Amino acid sequence: MTILEVQNIRKKFGEKTVHDGLNLSVQQGEILSLFGGSGTGKSVFLRSLIGLERVDSGSILYRGKQIQNLTETELFEIRKNIAYVFQNGALFDSMTVAENLAYPLIEHTNLSDNEMREKIDSMLSLIGLEGSQTLLPASLSGGMQKRVGLARSIILEPELILYDEPTAGLDPQNTKNLLEIMAKLRKMGKTGIFVTHDIPAALEVSDRIAILNNRRIHIVESVENIKKSTDPVVKAFIEGSVG
Ligand SMILES: Nc1ncnc2c1ncn2[C@@H]1O[C@H](COP(=O)(O)OP(=O)(O)O)[C@@H](O)[C@H]1O
Ligand SMILES: [Mg+2]
Repeated sequence: MTILEVQNIRKKFGEKTVHDGLNLSVQQGEILSLFGGSGTGKSVFLRSLIGLERVDSGSILYRGKQIQNLTETELFEIRKNIAYVFQNGALFDSMTVAENLAYPLIEHTNLSDNEMREKIDSMLSLIGLEGSQTLLPASLSGGMQKRVGLARSIILEPELILYDEPTAGLDPQNTKNLLEIMAKLRKMGKTGIFVTHDIPAALEVSDRIAILNNRRIHIVESVENIKKSTDPVVKAFIEGSVG
């Protein structure tokens, strides 16, 4: 089932066209990785999906519902279902881990303190940071902070998760931890769009790969087909000469 359908979108900043005739559909439950050189519009694309950027033309359908013309109030609802895991998902320094995680719950839900506590505990267990409720972010390693940032982004239990270079700057062990969490979330039925320069990681966790090139999706194929593709753009990515 298609959860997200992007049709022929066009996006300009001033004279600069970032997307032109970009099409992509995402199936429920899959992880689709998105490759593209720096500055090709991957983050702008993800931001467009939750209305943080307005496209100039074309349409974005989330579960069949047009999102590009929604009001802020309507987008607020959509953003409970679509999480954006930021490149630098900064935590609030003066708040504990639990307070950081409680923040979206307080903003968006009417859960009781007990229900919030339970949800926070289960998120911490998902990210392998049980017992860190009362710690301040400064006392966590960078990799742990990233995981808490991810937990905060998904604590409202979205069904679609937009990962914007979540492993950038992480060492191999922390990258592995994060990829394992992504795989767990996929098992739980969450759909993911994974923007990354880490091609081997993407090939490992994804169902399909899309490549953004020349302002549109150049190709979208299964991991298997991408690996054996003879397309020069694909080969450049897979062989690591671009990205
Ligand atoms: N708010 C903005 N105003 C003007 N230009 C922008 C804005 N946001 C992004 N851009 C430009 O759009 C292009 C794509 O940016 P981005 O999506 O961040 O690239 P990346 O693929 O590296 O994530 C870049 O050239 C960037 O400078
Ligand atoms: Mg980016």
